[in-house]
Amino acid sequence: MNWGFLGFGRIARKFLESLNAVDGEVAYAFASRSNAEALQEEFPNVKVYDTYEALLADPQVDIVYISTTHNFHCQNAIDALQAGKHVLCEKPMGISSDEISRMTQVAKQSGKFLMEAMWMRFLPAYRKAIEVVKSGEIGEVKYMTASFGFRSEDKLTQDGRLLNPDLAGGALYDVGVYPLTIVSDLFGWEPRDFKAHAIKSSTGVDETIQIQFDFGNDRMAQVLGSIALHTNKEACIYGEKGFVRMPMFWKGESYEIVKGDETQVFELPMTSTGYAHEIIEVRDCILQGKTESDLFTLNDSLMSARLVERILSTIFN
Ligand SMILES: NC(=O)c1ccc[n+]([C@@H]2O[C@H](COP(=O)([O-])OP(=O)(O)OC[C@H]3O[C@@H](n4cnc5c(N)ncnc54)[C@H](OP(=O)(O)O)[C@@H]3O)[C@@H](O)[C@H]2O)c1
Repeated sequence: MNWGFLGFGRIARKFLESLNAVDGEVAYAFASRSNAEALQEEFPNVKVYDTYEALLADPQVDIVYISTTHNFHCQNAIDALQAGKHVLCEKPMGISSDEISRMTQVAKQSGKFLMEAMWMRFLPAYRKAIEVVKSGEIGEVKYMTASFGFRSEDKLTQDGRLLNPDLAGGALYDVGVYPLTIVSDLFGWEPRDFKAHAIKSSTGVDETIQIQFDFGNDRMAQVLGSIALHTNKEACIYGEKGFVRMPMFWKGESYEIVKGDETQVFELPMTSTGYAHEIIEVRDCILQGKTESDLFTLNDSLMSARLVERILSTIFN
């Protein structure tokens, strides 16, 4: 398929590397509102547009990869679907459940494929670790923790997207959605109860956010997301017979099973920069005529957005 990129910033470069590693998939066109001229010089074999509308009007583009800031995802995706393109949209796909519902409705009307780029769910190490836990290897799961925090000085400026409320900045949207997704894989998207606390930035977004969940039946989870603190960046899933540790779980290439004093390490490397796995899923779904993936469904996107909404409403209301 011919891929068109809407927005071309940091993640687009990494995604491009993975796209180039998947047979048959072609980086055909980029659209950047801020950097088209320099991109055309850097990528002479790619069509570069300086508006998103021009890329969407190109009939050679089969599928659009959206990596603009969170606040633009919904409108970008709707425009792309209405232009007859399939869509893979960066996380979080929308910043409210209403946005996800609208995007889903347009996708259904267009008959085109739509998926949130929750690439973690497609990684071999992540999938195997969850499968092992679900097989009962560590007994019944009672508790889990997942922490994703980093501090990047250049992104923490007043102009940067991470702290800017107009660009839907904040830790939960940016990194917190990964821990929420791993929690959902074990306990679902609907906690019986939760308590969230946040450290807010001077711009009024959540810089660090911690949430304790009660999923009923003696199942609990604790997650942390931060754009201001480096944390241990691991997930641990605790069962009655031991625990599974997933270092760098959202981009993991290994997991460990710990029972008593014994630790077994399993390595499952990712292909290229890791996005190849979600790209292969998208390609296979489209080849099979599917309009969504079974591995990260549009309902997953909706439920994730609802949970984010519920959490943020307790912090900001
Ligand atoms: N899957 C992952 O591993 C991963 C990792 C990082 C980020 N992401 C997601 O990818 C998306 C982009 O992240 P990024 O780190 O690549 O962001 P970025 O480099 O800061 O910006 C991406 C693009 O967004 C547009 N943009 C940025 N700031 C803007 C502003 N002030 N006003 C209008 N447009 C602006 C620009 O589009 P133009 O090129 O058109 O100017 C820019 O190229 C986010 O949704 C993020 O959550 C995913």
